[in-house]
This record gives sequence, structure tokens and C-alpha cells, in this order.
Amino acid sequence: MRSNHIPVLFQQILEGLEVQSGGRYIDATVGGGGHAGGILRESSPDGRLLGLDRDPAAIEIAHTHLARYGERVKLVHRPFNCLAEVAQTHHHVPANGILFDLGLSSLQLADAMRGFAFMTDGPLDMRFDPTKNSLTAATLVNELSLEELADVLYRYGEIEQARRIAEAIVDARPLQTTKDLASTVERVVRRGRKIHPATRVFQALRIAVNDELAVLEEALPQAAGLLASNGRLAVISFHSLEDRLVKRFLRRESQDCICPPELPVCRCDHQATLRLVTRKPIRPTMDEIAANPRARSARLRVAERI
Ligand SMILES: C[S@@+](CC[C@H](N)C(=O)[O-])C[C@H]1O[C@@H](n2cnc3c(N)ncnc32)[C@H](O)[C@@H]1O
Repeated sequence: MRSNHIPVLFQQILEGLEVQSGGRYIDATVGGGGHAGGILRESSPDGRLLGLDRDPAAIEIAHTHLARYGERVKLVHRPFNCLAEVAQTHHHVPANGILFDLGLSSLQLADAMRGFAFMTDGPLDMRFDPTKNSLTAATLVNELSLEELADVLYRYGEIEQARRIAEAIVDARPLQTTKDLASTVERVVRRGRKIHPATRVFQALRIAVNDELAVLEEALPQAAGLLASNGRLAVISFHSLEDRLVKRFLRRESQDCICPPELPVCRCDHQATLRLVTRKPIRPTMDEIAANPRARSARLRVAERI
């Protein structure tokens, strides 16, 4: 597999993280190593980067792509909710910048056997880490009750017709492949002009298979805790559930008091640990979207450790 994933908001990440020579950086989702390569180049000659990925295939590709940086880069096959432990083990604290570029890489999407794409035919898998996680999309699709399946589609896909789709899936059981699932969804949901009806269904199942939101929720406080003073945290999300979670976390951590507004005096003793660098998310330009349609839904939020 070649490293043909185009990193989104590339320049904005280098600027957002204020990458500098000698800095210590963490790429929590190293993928094909696109952003990581930029960070290593920009932090030459002695900046160091610790890269994590939950997908062993991504780590292998990043190894090849980043080999020229030798000892300056360390790559670890672990999910980012282990960030604090991995950073401590590798003496990579405090960090001057931490990046999360969430979701899927083009490499994962292009590999039909991973089951992430409805445009190609493959097994209903969708695991980021096939070596650890035994729950696959096929298990969810074929074994959940109608109510459970409708709940997954509604909660993680924000699909209004979740129950109708779940009924169609249950009727069509057993489903074996991504094409089986996509055509089952197409039978009950009319094709919209913008996105394929299966897009949200695949998103929902992928989030559930990998427990993505819970893992992200665990990782963000760890990342904030690893930052050096004035260190930067940058998060690129690709759908509203992720972005909402990131926005809430950053907002909360940038406030001194998080008591409910009806309380007349502060009882929480919470102290801000972050300063928001971006009040509104940074979006890709039309030019970037034209060159890389995957960037379309990207939103970047940046905060700085106080
Ligand atoms: C959009 S890609 C990153 C691409 C990368 N920034 C680049 O420029 O090549 C997202 C990556 O995050 C990884 N990933 C998803 N969830 C993860 C998690 N919980 N922990 C670590 N990596 C994760 C995926 O396996 C995928 O390789």
C-alpha cells in the first residue's frame, strides 16, 4: 500500500501547533504520516515526534514514510486513549504540540477488505485494530436486536429514518458484505443529491465498532495534561458528533468556573487549563476541497495550554 493519503488542513496544522525546531510533538493519529512528516520537517533539525495509531497497517506505512527522520521519530501501535501512558514510557513529556486527525485515512478507505467503504465490496469489518478488537460491523448488523440497531444508527449516524433502515437490515439478514448493506439501505432510503444514503449508516457502525466517541473522550484530558505551558492541542474532526465533543471539552477547559448558571456562587473550584486559539473551527478552503474532496467536512479546533 502506498502512502497516498493527502493530509487535510496541512499548513493550518503546522501553524496551529506553532511547530518549531527542537520541539516535542505527538501525532495521536499518525496514519500515513502526512502531518507527521510536515511536523518533523518544520521542527528540523532536532524536533522529535511520537506517533500513535490504532491500526497496525497504518504504523507500518508511517514507518516507511518517516524512515528518513531516523531517531527523531518513534511510532507506537496503541489507541490514543493510552496517550499518557505511551508518552510517559517514551519520555516524551511535556509535549509542545499534540495533533488528533480523527476518522479514517484514504488508505483504510481504499482497502476493500477493511470493510469501511460502501463503494467497494468487502467483508463487514470496520475495525481500526483487527488484532485486538473482535467486534465487527457484521456482528452488529446481524446480531443486534431491532431496537439496539436502530439506536446505534440514530445515536452515531444521526439518521432520522434509523428504525426503517434497521427493519430493512433485520429483514435482509444475514448480511455478509459492504455491498449487501449498502444495497439494503438504498432500498429503503431515497438517494439524496449530496450524500449516499449509506454514508451515515457506515459512519454509525464504524463509531460503534471502535467505540470512537468514548475513546476520544478519554484521550482529550490526557492530551491536555501532557502539554507544556504554551503547548498546543489541535483536533481535526469530520462529523458533528466528534466536533461537538471536542468543542465542549475545549470550552470547559478554557473556563475558570463550570458551575450551572443558576448557582449564584461558584462551587466547582475548576480552573482553566487551556486558552482557545480558535473560537470558530477552521474549515478547508474551496481549493483544498476541490483538490481533496475528503477534506469537505473537516473542522479544526486549536487550544493552548495556559
Ligand atoms: C485521518 S487518519 C490520519 C492521517 C494522518 N494525519 C496523515 O496525515 O497521514 C486517522 C488515523 O487515526 C487512526 N485512529 C482512529 N482511531 C484511533 C485511536 N483511537 N487511536 C489511535 N489511532 C486512531 C486511524 O487508524 C487512522 O490511521
